Amino acid sequence: MSNGSETGGLTENKQSIRGNWGSRMGFILAATGSAIGLGNIWKFPYITGVYGGAAFVLVYLVCVVIVGLPLMMAELIIGRRSKKNPVGAFKALHKPRSPWQATGWLGVASGFVILSFYSVVAGWAMAYIFKSLAGFSGTGQQIQSQFGTLVAHPSASIMWHTIFMVLCIGIVIGGVQRGIERWSKILMPTLFAILLALMAYGVFYTHGGPRALEFLFKPDFSKLSAEAVLSALGHAFFTLSLGMGAMLTYGSYMRRDESITRDAITVSALDTIIALIAGVAIYSLVFNFDMDPAAGPGLIFQTLPVLFAKTGPWVSVPFFILLTFAALTSGISLLEVVVAYFIDERGWSRKKTTLILGTAIYLFGLLSAIASLTIPFRGRDQGFFDVFDFISTNYMLPVGGFLTCLFAAWVMKESDRVAEFGSRGPLYKGLIFVLRYVTPVAVFIVLLHGLELLPFMDY
Ligand code: PFF
Repeated sequence: MSNGSETGGLTENKQSIRGNWGSRMGFILAATGSAIGLGNIWKFPYITGVYGGAAFVLVYLVCVVIVGLPLMMAELIIGRRSKKNPVGAFKALHKPRSPWQATGWLGVASGFVILSFYSVVAGWAMAYIFKSLAGFSGTGQQIQSQFGTLVAHPSASIMWHTIFMVLCIGIVIGGVQRGIERWSKILMPTLFAILLALMAYGVFYTHGGPRALEFLFKPDFSKLSAEAVLSALGHAFFTLSLGMGAMLTYGSYMRRDESITRDAITVSALDTIIALIAGVAIYSLVFNFDMDPAAGPGLIFQTLPVLFAKTGPWVSVPFFILLTFAALTSGISLLEVVVAYFIDERGWSRKKTTLILGTAIYLFGLLSAIASLTIPFRGRDQGFFDVFDFISTNYMLPVGGFLTCLFAAWVMKESDRVAEFGSRGPLYKGLIFVLRYVTPVAVFIVLLHGLELLPFMDY
């Protein structure tokens, strides 16, 4: 094993100033916290519904294995080898004025943009904790329309967006161990416990359990479209926090004696299991009350509240707390990417960086929080929220992931890779093969789809 003083890394002394995880568990919980977020509990269940269930789930699992896992390993290898933020990492492992640092720039910009609108959805989740406490009542129509009212009233959306950003800033200011790690250790076990309880409720106390399991695990391939496959691939990126340097940054605080393979498998597996459990919990309710599984983005904030009116607050309050916690541990990782860059490259203090950049992201997020603000995009007027979501998911993350993959597979020194992977055995050779020939091709296809350039698709 080599230490951080080689290959452009920092000396151990500087490393401890920069911060590192206190334990393997700390890293696993923080990285899993980044991965598990709105993507798992809000997006995965609804896109699975839209694309017809189990066949989509199966394709998604394949995407996690052939695209997500190798790319996560690549990010961890680059991060731990360089012990730097995304921009510094590419410079340290290539050369000081390397054009590859643009990949890091893109990552920092993605963190900025994604957090700005992510915080707005997280804010809705917090608002719904309080709506749940008050109880949902009225006709289905009335309950569903509450969401439209929340979105349409900028003052409410802005207030919750403000609270969420203050929480993210408060945690990140504490640093790697005393902020991110400490809070991940509290929030993640609570999240697991709530989710298991909700799944148990869905499976054992409602009549929707068997139908939910069938919907999620019994594939009907006739329902599978090219669009579904591409969405599964795109979602694998987003849900594992890949393509923007979040895992790279978290990897840079990792200890040298941990296995990157084992940790990447653990994080990807936990992320996937949690998404599936969330799916079972949500669909048990949906089927119990014979609602439409293909409701789309409104599944959580519109369909579920109608059902929660029947189950009562003791199901809905934990559910929205779960959603908030999941969003918070992801939000802090998005902020950390941006913060790490300014600390490492500009020499700013953590406190100053977190306050300034956190505020800048907050202000930028106001564009997304105010639903009535629109700009022309792709042929029609759209809210900033949709525009930023579309640009980051379809362009920024795939481009970032594609470049990261090429760098790890073709540009980085073999000796650097091997030092972090730990061996040159068949597993290593397999990883490099996949990173060279499989993952980039898959990611490139997602990118072409995002640009609406795939010849066999109907745009
Ligand atoms: N993985 C998060 C989710 O599934 O909600 C979203 C995310 C967090 C994406 C952090 C990217 C990132 F860097």
